[in-house]
This record gives sequence, C-alpha cells and structure tokens, in this order.
Amino acid sequence: MALHVDLTSLFGSGSDARLTRTAFADALPRAAAVREAHLNQRPEWRGLGTREEFLAECRKRAKEVLADGTVEAFVVLGIGGSALGNAALLAALAPIYQEWSPASGRPKIFIPDSVDPDWIAALLENLPLDRTHFNVISKSGGTIETASEFLVFFDAVKKAVGSEEEAKKRFTITTDPAQGHFRKLCNEQGFASLTVPPGVGGRFSILTSVGLFTSEIAGLDTQSMLEGAARVDRNLAECLPEEDPALAWSLAHVLYLEQGKNVHVHFPYSHRMRLLADWFKQLWAESLGKKHAVDGSVVHRGPTPVKAVGPTDQHSQVQLYAEGPDDKVFTFLKLRDFAQQIEVPAPFVSSPAFDHLHGKTLNDIVEAERLGTEVALCDAGRPVSILELCKLDAFHVGQYFMFMEIATAYAGGLLEIDPFNQPGVEAGKVAALALLGAGHEGRAKEIRQSLAERDLFRLSC
Ligand code: PA5
Repeated sequence: MALHVDLTSLFGSGSDARLTRTAFADALPRAAAVREAHLNQRPEWRGLGTREEFLAECRKRAKEVLADGTVEAFVVLGIGGSALGNAALLAALAPIYQEWSPASGRPKIFIPDSVDPDWIAALLENLPLDRTHFNVISKSGGTIETASEFLVFFDAVKKAVGSEEEAKKRFTITTDPAQGHFRKLCNEQGFASLTVPPGVGGRFSILTSVGLFTSEIAGLDTQSMLEGAARVDRNLAECLPEEDPALAWSLAHVLYLEQGKNVHVHFPYSHRMRLLADWFKQLWAESLGKKHAVDGSVVHRGPTPVKAVGPTDQHSQVQLYAEGPDDKVFTFLKLRDFAQQIEVPAPFVSSPAFDHLHGKTLNDIVEAERLGTEVALCDAGRPVSILELCKLDAFHVGQYFMFMEIATAYAGGLLEIDPFNQPGVEAGKVAALALLGAGHEGRAKEIRQSLAERDLFRLSC
C-alpha cells in the first residue's frame, strides 16, 4: 500500500531541454529551506488525517440523515473547494454510475458545482424533493453561487414537503464554526450544521467535514482515507529533505516553470481518477497563480494546470504534447491494479486489427497505451513524472490528496508567493456582487461606466 513517485524521466543528460540532475541538486538547498519553514509553520490541514472530531460529527449526522431509510438522493450545494474534492472522491471510490445505481442502502449523490439554470432546472425536475437531503457547503458563508442554489432548492423543498420546518430537516449546512452568514442562519434558524475549521482554506478542506460527510453518506471507507493522508503527512515530515518525494516533484515543476515550461499536465490513466485531475487543477492554479510575491512585489507568477485523461486524450491532445511547443511538464497518474480484469475474447474472425489483441486484457492495453505515451514523450525530450497508486481505494486517495496539498504548499514557498489566499477570485466575487446590487456601490458604478465606454468589437454569424 503505497504511493510511488518516479521522477526519472523529468531529467535529461543536458542533451535536450530537460533538467539535469546537477541543476536539480544545486537547487535542493533552497527547497530544503522552504520545506523547513513550512514544517515550522505546520498548516492546520496537514494534521487533518488524525483529527477524529470531523469524522465523528460527519458519522453522527450521516446516521441521522439515513436513519429512516427514506433518503433516495443527496445533493452537495457548493462550488470550487467546496465541491471538487467531493466529486473526485465519489468518482474514485463510489460505485461507477452511482447516480443511477448507488451502493445498497445509500442515496444517489449529485454535485452540480454550478448555477447554470438549465442544469439546476433538470435537477429540480428529476429529484424526489421530499426524499432528498442537501448539504450546503460554504466556508465563508457568502458565496453567491452557493447562496442562490440554497435559496432555490430550499424553496422547492418547502413547497414539496409543505412547511419550512419540514424542509429544514432536509438540509445540513457545512460552514465556519463561528463566522459568516450561513453560521448565523444555523444559529438562528436551527439548521443542522457541520464545521470547516477556520484555519483550513477551501481547496485544502477535502479531509474536513467538507469531504467526510459526503464520504460517510456514500458509505466509503472514510477512516482509511484519513489514515492514508496521515501516513503521507508523517512520512514526509520525518524523512530527509532529499528523500521527500513531494519536495522533489514540486521543485522540479518550479525549476521548469522558471525555464518557461509553465503548462503542467495531470494525466490520469484511469477513468475513475479523472476528477482527481479537476481537484488538482484548482489546487495548483488557485494556490500558485499570483500577482504579488510575499514581499509585495508584482510578479504575475504561476503554472497553468491542464487535465488530460488516458487513453482518451491520446486521441485528442497527445499530438500537441509530443510535437507542439516544449512548454509542458507531464505527470502520469498510474493505477497499478485495477479492481477488474477483462480479457479480450478470441476474435470471431481473423483480422490484423484483432489478432494481436488475442490473449490480452483491457488492463494490458491501458498500461501499454500509458507506457507508450510516456516513452513517446520522453523520446521527444519532454519531462515526465509518474505517480503510481498501487490500487484505487480510500487509503491511496487519502495519500494522493495529502501528497498534492503538501507539494502545492512547497511550490508556493519556492515561488515566494502565498499559496493560501485567492485575491484574484475575490475581485471577481466583489464585481459580481456589485452588479447584483449587493453592496459595493462604488465598484458597481465603476464597472457600469467602463462597460459604457468600452469600444465594442462584436461579430455574428
Ligand atoms: O479554495 C477556495 O478557497 C475556493 O475555491 C473556495 O472553496 C470557493 O470559492 C468556495 O468558497 P466557500 O466555500 O467559502 O463558499
């Protein structure tokens, strides 16, 4: 049971555009200093694998919600860090197509992660509203998308069940323990609630009640997920800096970024792991894309994470990756043992398209495709690393979450930016609130004026 990190093909011998091991070794002391500073500060999320209280509160609430056996559907209303981790862990660990056929005794789970009216209307139309439980997740308690989704669904449920009091029983709100509009709502209106610790930011919160409640509702092995995360936290804190795989992975990415390879492709070769790449994209982009360095200087730094899924995207993006601009670093997420094995049957007719497949399994084919792509990229001089999960279970998913969070924190330190804020997102939120007439009058005036003065270049066809 382990997460293996193979960095071999990140390095070249100096004959191509890949990093040399010497350049990497020269940069290691800088990375070791970043790691030491990080460990001295020890952010709260690093210890989440051993924080039993969140699991306890989620277990208790999940039992209450599922007690009478009437809940057929469960909907997570949240966005960004309050949705992506849940979607990733469900895709990785819950029954595939759980929205049609969930595990026995468990509800179907939906995570819209959007306020697209067509999408929400379809959910409203198809959910059995009187037999659905809603988990509203917002750490800040003021996010427009989550607040509006909540109002839309609460109103619909109230109509379906006949009273506000009955509707309230079908909602659990996950938010800050003391601050924000949603906490006030829980205190004043009696909604059941769970907590997001104030010291843990949205995209680092999957191992708090943000993710653990969904995990318990889905009947996943939440305890093992926490144990996997705790193991990575412990091992990476106790090893030497030069043996820390998250530090090495992160340092190589930052060195490449400094050379102009700013596109970081996360490439799972397992369909169940595809949404881990969405979770990673947010973590890497929102944490590392920053205008200011910690000393206040303007730097506009940050990598562009890209999701690709193998083998699907071999037929979509690999042409670009092999022959296009040499501005990318690749991380293959390899699954060593798939849960299932499917043999390709003997061909019913001899054909060059079929004969070589005889005696092979789909497992052999996926791995041959992955390795083939890896080799082709390496031959083209492109830097590649491999993150191998021995199997796809809760323990390994917990390991993956913690590994990537730690790597992100290290990358932030190396880039000398603050990986835990998101001022660029806040600016958009304020502008949207201003346009909706929710305060920020001065900003609203500025935006309207600039829209009116804009030179328009619009075309139609
Ligand atoms: O990582 C983050 O902080 C963000 O992506 C948030 O999770 C997202 O903006 C939602 O915020 P909140 O949970 O406060 O509603």
